[in-house]
Amino acid sequence: MSTIPSVTLNNGAVIPQLGFGVWQVPDAEATPAVRTAIEAGYRSIDTAAIYENEVGTGRAVAEAGVPREELFITTKLWNSGTRDWSGAAGRAAVRQEFDASLEKLGLDYLDLYLIHWPRPMHGTFLNVWEAVAGLLDDGRVKSVGVSNFGIPQLETLIKESSVVPVLNQVELHPYFPQQELRDFQAQHGIAAEAWSPLGQGGELLSEPALVKIAEKHGRTVAQVVLRWHLQSGVIAIPKSVTPSRIRENLAVTGFELDAEDLAAIAAVQTGVRIGPDPQGFDWN
Ligand SMILES: NC(=O)c1ccc[n+]([C@@H]2O[C@H](COP(=O)([O-])OP(=O)(O)OC[C@H]3O[C@@H](n4cnc5c(N)ncnc54)[C@H](OP(=O)(O)O)[C@@H]3O)[C@@H](O)[C@H]2O)c1
Repeated sequence: MSTIPSVTLNNGAVIPQLGFGVWQVPDAEATPAVRTAIEAGYRSIDTAAIYENEVGTGRAVAEAGVPREELFITTKLWNSGTRDWSGAAGRAAVRQEFDASLEKLGLDYLDLYLIHWPRPMHGTFLNVWEAVAGLLDDGRVKSVGVSNFGIPQLETLIKESSVVPVLNQVELHPYFPQQELRDFQAQHGIAAEAWSPLGQGGELLSEPALVKIAEKHGRTVAQVVLRWHLQSGVIAIPKSVTPSRIRENLAVTGFELDAEDLAAIAAVQTGVRIGPDPQGFDWN
């Protein structure tokens, strides 16, 4: 079984530090991909309502033959701008979306439910957050968190709500390491989870400084990048539909990046995002 380390969240729940993401995997392909991932040893799976593959993901979970309590399943609320997310209507909408996701996944509880984006941008994310946190009461979700939140929005939740998110899932990789946000989150007990941890498989994986480190350790660049996430205390959820890569991305134990490696990785930072900036993006 996998020797992947775990992170204990601020509510005592434990999440594997390496999980499997399924963004852009069509529903029918999600089943074989997630099945391969679970067979390889992944125990944490990250999907979202907007990925439209909760059914295929849930099918793989059901067929995996792994006890439910050994798996950590995350999905996300798509709090779209087309609905009213304010007041009682907004809170009811959260419950409807949650029920729909659970049904599609074929599960009777989730390990983690995230608000996908801090949208709409005009303040109602606090109402949505209170409704998401309220889902903890009936035991059908064990932990709640957020995604794409910046420091201002996290400050609002910390100040206004009695429930602090267990984690914030954001774009994070060596080109865009999010150090300021990670430092803020560490001060407040909010774990950092990286989306696009491999830089979406783009130029990051042929970055000369990383190629050199990979050659030094006899590993691939993807393994070096995922090792960097683990040693940084970050939870990473790489995606692949390629069975050999699914296994490769889990084989990131048994070597250690040294101070020289870490300094070289820090130097590749560009500060450039791949995805949209959640602070400036108005989804309405
Ligand atoms: N919360 C959010 O807003 C948000 C946004 C984006 C992503 N996410 C989550 O984060 C997960 C991961 O992010 P991501 O899918 O954007 O990108 P990623 O995991 O950084 O990269 C995935 C890409 O890299 C390729 N790849 C994977 N392993 C590789 C390897 N060992 N060597 C070479 N190429 C490799 C994959 O190709 P193949 O599949 O063809 O093998 C795929 O094209 C998503 O699936 C999703 O669960 C969340």
